[in-house]
Amino acid sequence: MLLMKDILDEKDKRLRDISKEVKFPLTKKDKDMIQNMIDYLRNSQLHEMSEKYSLRPGMGLSAIQLGIPKRVFVVVYELTDEDVEDEKKEFDTYIIINPKIISNSVEKIYVQDGEGCLSVNRPVEGIVPRYARVTVEGYDLDGNLIHVRGREELAICFQHEIDHLNGILFVDHIDSKNPYKDKDKMRAI
Ligand code: NI
Repeated sequence: MLLMKDILDEKDKRLRDISKEVKFPLTKKDKDMIQNMIDYLRNSQLHEMSEKYSLRPGMGLSAIQLGIPKRVFVVVYELTDEDVEDEKKEFDTYIIINPKIISNSVEKIYVQDGEGCLSVNRPVEGIVPRYARVTVEGYDLDGNLIHVRGREELAICFQHEIDHLNGILFVDHIDSKNPYKDKDKMRAI
Protein backbone atom coordinates (compact mmCIF):
# COMPACT_ATOMS: atom_id res chain seq x y z
CA MET A 1 0.00 0.00 0.00
CA LEU A 2 1.06 3.57 -0.62
CA LEU A 3 2.34 5.68 2.26
CA MET A 4 3.19 9.36 2.54
CA LYS A 5 6.83 8.58 1.70
CA ASP A 6 5.70 7.36 -1.74
CA ILE A 7 4.20 10.73 -2.62
CA LEU A 8 6.60 13.25 -4.12
CA ASP A 9 7.23 16.45 -2.23
CA GLU A 10 7.02 19.79 -4.05
CA LYS A 11 10.82 20.05 -4.04
CA ASP A 12 10.95 17.09 -6.41
CA LYS A 13 11.38 18.35 -9.98
CA ARG A 14 9.40 15.48 -11.45
CA LEU A 15 6.26 17.27 -10.29
CA ARG A 16 7.07 19.85 -12.97
CA ASP A 17 6.95 17.31 -15.79
CA ILE A 18 4.11 17.37 -18.28
CA SER A 19 2.47 13.96 -18.01
CA LYS A 20 1.86 11.90 -21.15
CA GLU A 21 -1.41 10.54 -22.52
CA VAL A 22 -2.30 7.06 -21.30
CA LYS A 23 -2.66 4.38 -23.97
CA PHE A 24 -5.43 1.79 -23.99
CA PRO A 25 -5.88 -0.94 -23.05
CA LEU A 26 -4.39 -0.20 -19.65
CA THR A 27 -1.55 -2.45 -18.52
CA LYS A 28 -1.73 -4.39 -15.27
CA LYS A 29 0.79 -1.90 -13.90
CA ASP A 30 -1.51 1.03 -14.79
CA LYS A 31 -4.47 -0.67 -13.11
CA ASP A 32 -2.48 -1.51 -9.98
CA MET A 33 -1.24 2.05 -9.74
CA ILE A 34 -4.78 3.42 -10.01
CA GLN A 35 -6.05 0.99 -7.38
CA ASN A 36 -3.20 1.99 -5.05
CA MET A 37 -4.13 5.64 -5.52
CA ILE A 38 -7.77 4.95 -4.68
CA ASP A 39 -6.78 2.92 -1.63
CA TYR A 40 -4.50 5.66 -0.36
CA LEU A 41 -7.16 8.35 -0.63
CA ARG A 42 -9.83 6.19 0.89
CA ASN A 43 -7.66 5.04 3.78
CA SER A 44 -6.48 8.59 4.40
CA GLN A 45 -10.11 9.59 5.03
CA LEU A 46 -10.68 6.77 7.52
CA HIS A 47 -9.63 7.81 11.02
CA GLU A 48 -8.28 4.43 12.01
CA MET A 49 -6.18 3.83 8.90
CA SER A 50 -4.92 7.38 8.64
CA GLU A 51 -3.70 7.28 12.23
CA LYS A 52 -2.23 3.81 12.02
CA TYR A 53 -0.20 4.56 8.89
CA SER A 54 0.23 8.33 9.35
CA LEU A 55 -1.60 9.10 6.12
CA ARG A 56 -2.27 12.76 5.51
CA PRO A 57 -5.91 13.02 4.41
CA GLY A 58 -6.40 13.90 0.78
CA MET A 59 -9.20 13.71 -1.76
CA GLY A 60 -7.22 13.82 -4.99
CA LEU A 61 -4.06 12.28 -6.33
CA SER A 62 -2.39 12.34 -9.74
CA ALA A 63 -0.02 9.69 -11.08
CA ILE A 64 2.83 12.19 -11.32
CA GLN A 65 2.70 12.58 -7.53
CA LEU A 66 4.01 9.02 -7.45
CA GLY A 67 6.63 9.93 -10.04
CA ILE A 68 4.65 8.34 -12.88
CA PRO A 69 4.15 10.85 -15.71
CA LYS A 70 0.82 9.57 -17.00
CA ARG A 71 -2.32 11.63 -17.48
CA VAL A 72 -4.57 10.11 -14.88
CA PHE A 73 -6.00 11.28 -11.60
CA VAL A 74 -8.22 9.84 -8.93
CA VAL A 75 -10.60 11.66 -6.60
CA VAL A 76 -12.24 10.00 -3.60
CA TYR A 77 -14.97 12.28 -2.37
CA GLU A 78 -16.49 11.71 1.03
CA LEU A 79 -20.29 11.94 0.95
CA THR A 80 -20.77 11.64 4.70
CA ASP A 81 -19.55 14.02 7.40
CA GLU A 82 -15.99 13.90 8.59
CA ASP A 83 -17.03 12.88 12.11
CA VAL A 84 -19.06 9.87 10.95
CA GLU A 85 -17.52 6.62 12.17
CA ASP A 86 -15.34 4.82 9.64
CA GLU A 87 -17.74 1.94 9.02
CA LYS A 88 -20.50 4.31 7.98
CA LYS A 89 -18.48 6.50 5.66
CA GLU A 90 -19.52 6.65 2.04
CA PHE A 91 -17.42 7.78 -0.88
CA ASP A 92 -17.73 8.62 -4.54
CA THR A 93 -14.70 7.62 -6.58
CA TYR A 94 -13.70 9.34 -9.81
CA ILE A 95 -10.99 7.94 -12.06
CA ILE A 96 -10.39 10.15 -15.07
CA ILE A 97 -7.82 9.23 -17.69
CA ASN A 98 -6.50 11.78 -20.23
CA PRO A 99 -8.79 14.44 -18.72
CA LYS A 100 -9.60 17.78 -20.35
CA ILE A 101 -11.80 20.60 -19.13
CA ILE A 102 -14.27 21.14 -21.95
CA SER A 103 -16.44 23.79 -20.30
CA ASN A 104 -16.40 25.98 -17.25
CA SER A 105 -18.52 28.51 -15.42
CA VAL A 106 -17.77 32.21 -15.55
CA GLU A 107 -18.09 32.30 -11.79
CA LYS A 108 -14.93 31.76 -9.81
CA ILE A 109 -14.48 30.47 -6.28
CA TYR A 110 -11.69 29.67 -3.86
CA VAL A 111 -11.22 27.57 -0.76
CA GLN A 112 -11.49 29.88 2.21
CA ASP A 113 -9.13 27.85 4.40
CA GLY A 114 -6.64 27.52 1.56
CA GLU A 115 -6.15 24.71 -0.90
CA GLY A 116 -4.12 21.69 0.13
CA CYS A 117 -2.02 19.13 -1.69
CA LEU A 118 -0.40 15.88 -0.59
CA SER A 119 2.82 17.09 -2.22
CA VAL A 120 2.89 20.42 -0.38
CA ASN A 121 3.94 19.79 3.19
CA ARG A 122 3.83 23.29 4.59
CA PRO A 123 1.09 25.79 5.35
CA VAL A 124 0.38 28.10 2.39
CA GLU A 125 -1.68 31.23 2.65
CA GLY A 126 -3.58 32.78 -0.19
CA ILE A 127 -6.25 32.48 -2.80
CA VAL A 128 -6.31 30.02 -5.67
CA PRO A 129 -8.93 31.17 -8.19
CA ARG A 130 -10.90 28.25 -9.60
CA TYR A 131 -14.00 27.88 -11.76
CA ALA A 132 -17.09 27.13 -9.69
CA ARG A 133 -18.24 24.48 -12.18
CA VAL A 134 -16.41 22.47 -14.81
CA THR A 135 -17.14 19.64 -17.18
CA VAL A 136 -14.26 17.25 -17.66
CA GLU A 137 -13.99 14.94 -20.63
CA GLY A 138 -11.80 11.88 -20.34
CA TYR A 139 -11.75 8.11 -20.38
CA ASP A 140 -12.66 5.44 -17.86
CA LEU A 141 -10.61 2.33 -17.07
CA ASP A 142 -12.01 0.54 -20.11
CA GLY A 143 -11.24 3.37 -22.49
CA ASN A 144 -14.82 4.62 -22.80
CA LEU A 145 -15.26 8.35 -23.33
CA ILE A 146 -16.80 9.96 -20.25
CA HIS A 147 -18.01 13.40 -19.24
CA VAL A 148 -18.00 14.32 -15.58
CA ARG A 149 -19.49 17.49 -14.19
CA GLY A 150 -18.14 18.90 -10.98
CA ARG A 151 -19.20 21.85 -8.91
CA GLU A 152 -17.81 23.58 -5.84
CA GLU A 153 -15.24 21.44 -3.98
CA LEU A 154 -15.28 18.71 -6.61
CA ALA A 155 -14.74 21.25 -9.42
CA ILE A 156 -11.75 22.66 -7.54
CA CYS A 157 -10.37 19.20 -7.06
CA PHE A 158 -10.62 18.39 -10.79
CA GLN A 159 -8.84 21.63 -11.70
CA HIS A 160 -6.15 21.02 -9.08
CA GLU A 161 -5.46 17.50 -10.39
CA ILE A 162 -5.43 18.51 -14.07
CA ASP A 163 -2.89 21.17 -13.10
CA HIS A 164 -0.66 18.40 -11.71
CA LEU A 165 -0.70 16.67 -15.11
CA ASN A 166 0.63 19.91 -16.58
CA GLY A 167 3.35 20.35 -13.96
CA ILE A 168 1.48 23.03 -12.05
CA LEU A 169 1.05 23.16 -8.26
CA PHE A 170 -1.65 25.16 -6.50
CA VAL A 171 0.97 27.40 -4.92
CA ASP A 172 1.89 28.65 -8.42
CA HIS A 173 -1.48 30.39 -8.62
CA ILE A 174 -0.87 32.47 -5.51
CA ASP A 175 0.63 35.90 -5.87
CA SER A 176 3.21 35.84 -3.08
CA LYS A 177 3.29 39.64 -2.83
CA ASN A 178 -0.47 39.85 -2.59
CA PRO A 179 -1.85 36.41 -1.64
CA TYR A 180 -5.42 37.66 -1.24
CA LYS A 181 -5.55 39.53 -4.54
CA ASP A 182 -9.00 39.72 -6.18
CA LYS A 183 -10.62 38.17 -3.12
CA ASP A 184 -13.73 40.30 -3.58
CA LYS A 185 -14.21 39.11 -7.15
CA MET A 186 -14.70 35.49 -6.07
CA ARG A 187 -16.88 33.48 -3.76
CA ALA A 188 -15.29 31.67 -0.83
CA ILE A 189 -16.33 28.09 -0.16
NI1 NI B 1 -2.17 18.16 -5.27
